[in-house]
Amino acid sequence: MNAQTKKFPIGQTFGISAPAAMTVDGFEDDQHPSIPAVKDYAFRNEHLRDVLAFIANPLGDALYLTGPTGSGKTSLICQVASRLNWPVQQVTCHGRLELNDLIGQFMLVSGSMSFVHGPLAQAVRDGHLLILNEIDLMDPSELAGLNDIIEGQPLMIPQNGGEVIKPHPKFRLIATGNSAGQGDQSGLYQGVMQQNLAFLDRFRLMEVGYPDASVEKSILKGVLVGMGIPVDSVMENLSEKMIQVANEIRRLFVGGADGTGELSVTMSTRTLVRWTNLMIAYKRAPNALAYSLDRALTLRAEHAQREAIHRIAKDIFGDSWGE
Ligand SMILES: Nc1ncnc2c1ncn2[C@@H]1O[C@H](COP(=O)(O)OP(=O)(O)O)[C@@H](O)[C@H]1O
Ligand SMILES: [Mg+2]
Repeated sequence: MNAQTKKFPIGQTFGISAPAAMTVDGFEDDQHPSIPAVKDYAFRNEHLRDVLAFIANPLGDALYLTGPTGSGKTSLICQVASRLNWPVQQVTCHGRLELNDLIGQFMLVSGSMSFVHGPLAQAVRDGHLLILNEIDLMDPSELAGLNDIIEGQPLMIPQNGGEVIKPHPKFRLIATGNSAGQGDQSGLYQGVMQQNLAFLDRFRLMEVGYPDASVEKSILKGVLVGMGIPVDSVMENLSEKMIQVANEIRRLFVGGADGTGELSVTMSTRTLVRWTNLMIAYKRAPNALAYSLDRALTLRAEHAQREAIHRIAKDIFGDSWGE
């Protein structure tokens, strides 16, 4: 790939306030099949700053986004890429994933065996972003093979007749995970493995927590508008209260900031979006809010926790809870 780069004004491209002269490089071609689809995303300045600084100039690093589940880590990267026309290779890691799965394998292609590059080889070759989701679920010994590539060394593929791929200058490696690589102290995330220090040492870190209420309000507004629902003061009030419920659940969650909570489920931004979607879908049900909360989250909580969460919601919504 020898794609033409293009300068994008940061403020206009990401809907934030930034001086007009501030730009970031992306690509001219907006038709590449690996560019993620543009979706509504509320960019937070501090995260955008870190991601854009990395993308513009990785200086031999990879980027590690850590934070609780459903806080917007993967979508942050995909939505930055979608606006810069930057093609993305994405992988969700698991305990049995091997480096060779990322590099490629021989496959039957129109009657004969040929070597087909996997997501890592494609990204290194063509200058794509490689996103390794839930990287802390992967076996650290498999990941050690990435060390050289992060540093800009060529990718060696001995199994393909000693192929050597020189990294494209636009290749970037980005990982996301619920832990910061030190294993999971809370016991909430099954399968999380402690990562190798030499591997982690090659990453720049950033933390993506759940957004502030004002940001979540604009996320929910986007969801409602996307469904053709007029956002009047009643709707605004409703989403504010749903966000309050989410924040109260987060506060009581065992994996929360102070780690002393009693709930073992939490309300991620992803779940909050689901609750909003379902609340609209079930709006004719007699108690649409409670009914949709069950389907979005609480049916997977233990009985006592489900009751506790409903009590929280009832306190916050008052009479409009309708049970
Ligand atoms: N800033 C945001 N703007 C819009 N939607 C968001 C935002 N953050 C999270 N979401 C919603 O939450 C969902 C989950 O986000 P995702 O990036 O997959 O989380 P993570 O990778 O942290 O688990 C997204 O699909 C989107 O609906
Ligand atoms: Mg993710």
